[in-house]
Amino acid sequence: MNDTPDTRAMQRSPIILGIESSCDETAVALYGDNGLLADAVHSQVALHAEYGGVVPELASRDHIRKIAPLIAEVRTQAGHPDISGIAYTFGPGLVGALLVGASVAAGLGMSLGVPVLGVHHMEGHLLSPLLEDDAPAFPYAALLVSGGHTLLVAVHGVGRYELLGRSVDDAVGEAFDKAAKMLGLGYPGGPALSRLADTGNPHAHDFPRPMLKRPGLDFSFSGLKTAVMLAVKASGDSEQEKADIAASFQQAVVDTLVAKCQRAMAGTGMRRLVVAGGVGANTALRRALAASGERNGFILSFPRPAFCTDNAAMIALVGYLRRGEMRPGLAAADATARWSLTDLVPPPGVAPAARVPG
Ligand code: KG4
Ligand code: ZN
Repeated sequence: MNDTPDTRAMQRSPIILGIESSCDETAVALYGDNGLLADAVHSQVALHAEYGGVVPELASRDHIRKIAPLIAEVRTQAGHPDISGIAYTFGPGLVGALLVGASVAAGLGMSLGVPVLGVHHMEGHLLSPLLEDDAPAFPYAALLVSGGHTLLVAVHGVGRYELLGRSVDDAVGEAFDKAAKMLGLGYPGGPALSRLADTGNPHAHDFPRPMLKRPGLDFSFSGLKTAVMLAVKASGDSEQEKADIAASFQQAVVDTLVAKCQRAMAGTGMRRLVVAGGVGANTALRRALAASGERNGFILSFPRPAFCTDNAAMIALVGYLRRGEMRPGLAAADATARWSLTDLVPPPGVAPAARVPG
């Protein structure tokens, strides 16, 4: 990198502004040598609830409304430090929503005269455990389970990701939301379904455990969804019948996730499994994974809930770790709906297995 005023400011004490707008959370954060300085999130869940799912056009418009106030909020929280670079979510995600963050990053980069970098949303999730004081050492395995993602990844270092398994159809949170909708519960339905499941019999229905009998670590949840639909149609209106379907559905999901995680830990020989994403809040899943960890000798960890769900702290962190790749003068806003995690490479000049300082 040339020694410009931009890069000199970066070398002194980098402070990275992170911007996340890939789906239905608008989030902004500041990250520096001493870790996270400030972060703020606005969730659009209430906005999309009446439609039973995320409406992309509404998401984009709401990002436009919320992003500038959130930037002002984190700057105030951190005492108005000089920003030396901007990282925004380049993809994957809803392209209209992503372009809001991209436009703000490009404009702000130009007006502040600082370099900008588009980063991978999933890299943010994979590295989010490093935001915690007890950051795990590499390597670790990560199970990302949310409304948009179901991924099992071996994290060997920054930019060194091995995709072990993913859902070939619905994300697991999406399956929870769809099953909840069939049972007449609100959106997002995961937490409500899980509460209803507490009062049901998990063995009442023998729902499919998709792809368990096949080798490999991919997931599929659409067959399970169909099985739930048929059970709902065949059932009466009683609360107990609904609770039994909810409990049996949840048990099928938990059994599938646990079996694949166990297989991944045994296959890779890794000792730590990090679970992130909204579905990681599911108590039955947590309990079953913890029991599996004890039986099979792996350590289970969960980043705090605010770092598990979509946030900008993880985007600012990736920007910080990849600050050597930031280029001055990003002229146009750019983003992508699709981007493979395995296209990423380690940042130049950073040892692949480096720990985050501070
Ligand atoms: O990571 P997240 O907050 O956001 C996005 O996907 O953007 O994940 C939300 C997903 C939703 O599908 C929600 O239903 C699910 O996580 N979820 C749960 C639970 N809490 C949230 N699913 C099952 N059990 C829960 N306790
Ligand atoms: Zn996400």
